[in-house]
Amino acid sequence: MHRTASDPSPDSPSAGKESGASDDYRIAILGGGHLGRAFVAGLIRSGMEAYRIRIGEPDATRQLSLERDYGVVALADNRDVVEQADVVLVAVRPTALAAVLPPLQGSWGTRRRLLVSLAAGAMITHLRQWIPGSVTVARAMPNLAVELGQGVIALYIPDPVAKVDRMLLEGLFGRLGRLFWLREESLLNVVTALSGSGPAYFFYFMEQLETAAHALGMERDMARALILGTGAGSMALAQEAKGAFQTLREQVTSPGGTTAAALTHLAQPDFSDSIVAAVRAAYERTRDLVDPQSETNP
Ligand SMILES: NC(=O)c1ccc[n+]([C@@H]2O[C@H](COP(=O)([O-])OP(=O)(O)OC[C@H]3O[C@@H](n4cnc5c(N)ncnc54)[C@H](OP(=O)(O)O)[C@@H]3O)[C@@H](O)[C@H]2O)c1
Repeated sequence: MHRTASDPSPDSPSAGKESGASDDYRIAILGGGHLGRAFVAGLIRSGMEAYRIRIGEPDATRQLSLERDYGVVALADNRDVVEQADVVLVAVRPTALAAVLPPLQGSWGTRRRLLVSLAAGAMITHLRQWIPGSVTVARAMPNLAVELGQGVIALYIPDPVAKVDRMLLEGLFGRLGRLFWLREESLLNVVTALSGSGPAYFFYFMEQLETAAHALGMERDMARALILGTGAGSMALAQEAKGAFQTLREQVTSPGGTTAAALTHLAQPDFSDSIVAAVRAAYERTRDLVDPQSETNP
């Protein structure tokens, strides 16, 4: 991906603090599934007061569990959730947007509000058909690590963006991880395929390593601990070095050694083709996610 972020640059993502914009804004999260819950967890973990967060979630069991675990209010009627909110985060599946957004027509009122869709594939023009012009519409693509304040979040907001909105969004998402502004909406599909789905790619690789170690006689718990430690250490090295991943790989690979033996299997065209094909498949999938037919094969 070429440089796409504007202010701040992709090399210096926004971090952490709310400044300037109202720091007592109220948040509505529509959808208390995997991502909605991760947002609640991340915001509470960051020190946000529970009274500032309301969730719209139809499932009574999930409502109860969100209220019990985080002290937030969870309601079945999205209108009651949106009415008090300054920022509305939409965390429902893309196919649910057409059911979730139109009934809110009468709930927006006249005061300043922001709606941020977290749904993969749903373009701003698509969302706009259901949202009045008084509401600023943005899109963000996070990943599940927002739960721990370690997400990566790409944000796109069509110009012009009021400074107060920009500051509010940077403060809000900065609580949940590293924020990258995109200049082109189309790049959100690449982000979705890379960092949105990305944790699953790492988890899959870890699963396979665990299976390999177990096949060589190691207890799964021990293998898991070693894999977690290796993953954390590798990330720390990569962060510190800031160089090409290839250079780091070569530093671990003595000619004729054990790593070189492993890489004769991994560094094969088939393997790299599979990775390229996987990311491309995720990217292409974003294009038809808002089609209700796609629910049968999510
Ligand atoms: N999961 C991720 O890692 C991830 C990462 C980036 C972006 N996203 C995006 O985030 C969105 C949600 O993904 P997810 O994985 O969290 O899906 P999910 O687990 O299926 O959660 C969606 C939630 O929305 C609820 N819902 C359905 N209709 C609703 C309505 N009318 N009002 C309020 N809530 C409603 C669902 O309830 P029912 O189950 O009862 O229908 C469910 O609890 C998707 O658009 C996805 O593209 C997800």
